[in-house]
Amino acid sequence: MTVATKGGLERSGPDIWTQNGNPSHLVSEAHASRERLGVEQIALWQLHRIDSKVPRDEQFEAVKLLLDDGVIAHAGLSEVSVEDIVEAAKVFPVATVQNRYNFADRGSEDVLKYCEAHGIGFIPWFPLAAGEHAREGSALDAIAKAHGATPSQIAVAWLLQRSPVIIPIPGTSRVAHLEENMKAGEIELTQAEFDQLDKAGSQRA
Ligand SMILES: NC(=O)c1ccc[n+]([C@@H]2O[C@H](COP(=O)([O-])OP(=O)(O)OC[C@H]3O[C@@H](n4cnc5c(N)ncnc54)[C@H](OP(=O)(O)O)[C@@H]3O)[C@@H](O)[C@H]2O)c1
Repeated sequence: MTVATKGGLERSGPDIWTQNGNPSHLVSEAHASRERLGVEQIALWQLHRIDSKVPRDEQFEAVKLLLDDGVIAHAGLSEVSVEDIVEAAKVFPVATVQNRYNFADRGSEDVLKYCEAHGIGFIPWFPLAAGEHAREGSALDAIAKAHGATPSQIAVAWLLQRSPVIIPIPGTSRVAHLEENMKAGEIELTQAEFDQLDKAGSQRA
């Protein structure tokens, strides 16, 4: 099991997220995370957002410092473009990218392709996308029924089949959902099912 965390956003109240890419803040935040996690080294630390108020290279240098000092073992980015990854990779090895992506939200397809080509882990957030796509009679609903599975499980199974670099991170507060989501790894979609969801999702991109 790998515990990953992020830094670069301040949370001063409920639903208030403020970017703070000040290099000294990034460094002190990562040190504080390490202490809270009770580990010697954070396995994977991700820059939550590149703060547009701070030159991005300065933020990347802070990440490099954390790697060089051994505070973090691997570093990643979140909600970035291909160009951001290319620039960051000039400063530190980019291990992962965490962008919003699911079968029905394919805005980061170019980033995923770049990650595949460069051996970078792609961590899709909001991976379930079951909501409206799971309505009675939808492709997701039909495929879920054929597998005796839930729409959430099929959405995760599709991601796992989409690319070997994809690591889905379904969020949940319930053990039952956690167990259900873990079982998605055992579901194998047929090529026709995969293509059907691929097509349904691509049409919406
Ligand atoms: N990088 C970023 O900018 C960013 C932004 C947002 C989120 N994230 C990360 O992405 C991860 C997940 O994202 P997310 O929570 O926004 O979206 P999500 O995982 O797609 O959806 C979570 C929602 O789905 C429900 N759910 C989970 N499993 C389910 C199941 N098997 N059946 C039915 N409902 C289920 C959860 O409710 P229950 O609690 O009832 O299970 C919760 O309401 C988190 O680790 C989060 O930190 C990253």
